[in-house]
Amino acid sequence: MSAITIKTAEDIQGMRIAGRLGSEVLDYITPYVKVGVTTGELDRLCHEYMVNVQGTIPAPLNYCPPGYTPYPKAICTSVNDVVCHGIPGDKVLKSGDVVNLDITVIKDGYHGDTSRMFFVGEPSIMAKRLSAITFECMWLGISKIKPGNHLGDIGFIIQQYAEKAGYSVVREFCGHGIGKIFHEEPQILHYGRPGTLAEMLPGMIFTVEPMINSGRKEIREMPDGWTIKTRDRSLSAQWEHTVLVTETGYEVLTASAGMPPPPEFISAKS
Ligand code: MF3
Ligand code: CO
Ligand code: CO
Repeated sequence: MSAITIKTAEDIQGMRIAGRLGSEVLDYITPYVKVGVTTGELDRLCHEYMVNVQGTIPAPLNYCPPGYTPYPKAICTSVNDVVCHGIPGDKVLKSGDVVNLDITVIKDGYHGDTSRMFFVGEPSIMAKRLSAITFECMWLGISKIKPGNHLGDIGFIIQQYAEKAGYSVVREFCGHGIGKIFHEEPQILHYGRPGTLAEMLPGMIFTVEPMINSGRKEIREMPDGWTIKTRDRSLSAQWEHTVLVTETGYEVLTASAGMPPPPEFISAKS
């Protein structure tokens, strides 16, 4: 078991840049998420922006964790009942669809990993509520990031809030340490008990990326070996930020001009 790394000042500076660039890809793509666009076109636009405008590398392309086939595209596009790792392709987005775009860029060796939900045309009341609750779950989790708190505090508050809203938390995928490596220790579970798991220390960097289902928590993997859907076909939502543990709390690294601001109950606290 490898330990959780504490990032150096140099690492943190590199992660600030990578984080901002990741978030700026989402800012860039926002106006293109419209009725009639394909997920493959969104991938192509993001890929070109990363490589030609930012000089970043899309981390997902050819990413191949043990037991997987190489991921074939530059971003993940997870529509409606797709929980995560949706592969861009010929799918045409229609009014009422809800899609998560998950971006990870590499700049000077450092990874910035962030995702947002987008509505295509007119969203249903259900899709709006699920996305809003999931966004609040992510921020409630982030609000627990502070030296001396435990990783279990993050999962606990997310699970409490999601389940009180009538939703369920996906268990098989979690947040993760990140830096020069895309996925490293620690795992950030989006469920759990307060006071459990590792204590947070200044200089740790990890993602918070809850996947919340409107129905049951169970998932299934599609034959492509990547796409994960809800088993009951219910809607799923996800938001993600990459966050640094500071001396006094946290710093969101995947911040940019177009990023949706934190919920009011967070801004008031931090
Ligand atoms: N960006 C995802 C995460 O948040 C990982 C995607 S891996 C891929 O951890 F290969 F599917 F792109
Ligand atoms: Co991630
Ligand atoms: Co991600």
